[in-house]
Amino acid sequence: MGQLLIAVLVGGIAAGAALVVLRTRSGSGNKSKVPPALRPADIDAVLESSRLTKIHGWGLALTLFFAFFMPAYWVQEPQNRLDNEKEFAEESLERGEKYYALATDQQTGEANPDGKECARCHGVDAEGGTNEFLNPNTGVRSIVQVPELKTVFARYEEPPPGFEDARTYIREVIERGRPGTDMPTWGAEYGGPLTEQELDDIVNWLEDINVAPQVDTDATGDQIFNQFCSTCHGIGGAGGSGPAMQGGGTVAEFPNVEDHANFVREGSQAGQPYGTSGTGTGAMPPWGGVLTDEQIQLVVEYERSL
Ligand code: HEC
Ligand code: HEC
Repeated sequence: MGQLLIAVLVGGIAAGAALVVLRTRSGSGNKSKVPPALRPADIDAVLESSRLTKIHGWGLALTLFFAFFMPAYWVQEPQNRLDNEKEFAEESLERGEKYYALATDQQTGEANPDGKECARCHGVDAEGGTNEFLNPNTGVRSIVQVPELKTVFARYEEPPPGFEDARTYIREVIERGRPGTDMPTWGAEYGGPLTEQELDDIVNWLEDINVAPQVDTDATGDQIFNQFCSTCHGIGGAGGSGPAMQGGGTVAEFPNVEDHANFVREGSQAGQPYGTSGTGTGAMPPWGGVLTDEQIQLVVEYERSL
């Protein structure tokens, strides 16, 4: 409807311009070389009657045209904005999905020149996976667990302290990467390859595919640990971006089981002490919103057995 109105307006202007050009052309042929502004004008009787009426007529026609065109356009405008917003949001999701994907589709072999290959580590369906990581600081090569991303929004529903919401936190992780781990820096501002818009597109897509993490009701402590904790604490608690848990270190940190469980439930706060000697950085997420008390109990027991 809005487009139709604009088409009518543009068409009208074009037709008017064409008319003016044609009239000046046809007039110039047989008249003398005297320019129009220097030719004698019509007599008063003509100027004040037929010519005046003609000008008034045009004025009225144009006034009427705009009187209807403007309100009609105005009434349409909110809907146009909404349609545009929806269209932009859909396009953003499409781009985000492409950036996430592999540069070559493994099944069809189809090329995806926009692919930034998050899927290489995080899985084609954002289901997580493993990757071989050569730590540049220590030179140690190890198999690391890569987190599932289709649940990342749900898992950070309660964001780490200092972050307004899951989105701000997740965007920042992608933009800056996780130094010391396999997660690269992606934001152009930090030396990565992605523009602000590309980051937004990926985050929009991750938010769109978000599902709640499925924890098997009969999952055992080690299964829960592998699903949620090993990305940071390493497979079998060998350590990673989070502290290692083997050799009784966790029991020494939390002699009391209840304190251990409460810490897992609430996560760490930057600069806040925890346990007997720990100081939080805010990087340990709260799990109370994801795991039930029984599941926290199971994973705590597993950690204490390592
Ligand atoms: C080379 C492998 C690799 C690639 C490529 C990669 N990641 Fe990661 N990513 C990881 C690892 C490993 C972690 C977990 C790091 C840790 O121990 O905290 C991670 C963590 C994350 C997290 C935080 C998840 C959480 O549960 O805390 C997000 C979000 C994320 N990556 C998004 C992305 C996006 C988006 C891309 C593509 C633009 C990408 N990653 C590409 C390996 C990778
Ligand atoms: C995104 C990374 C990450 C994930 C996932 C994670 N942790 Fe942590 N965790 C940390 C970090 C980092 C610390 C150290 C404290 C800090 O820096 O704030 C920590 C500390 C801990 C500690 C204290 C250990 C010590 O010796 O100081 C326990 C216990 C713990 N985490 C349990 C868990 C459990 C249980 C899960 C899974 C349900 C889990 N963590 C998942 C990052 C993580």
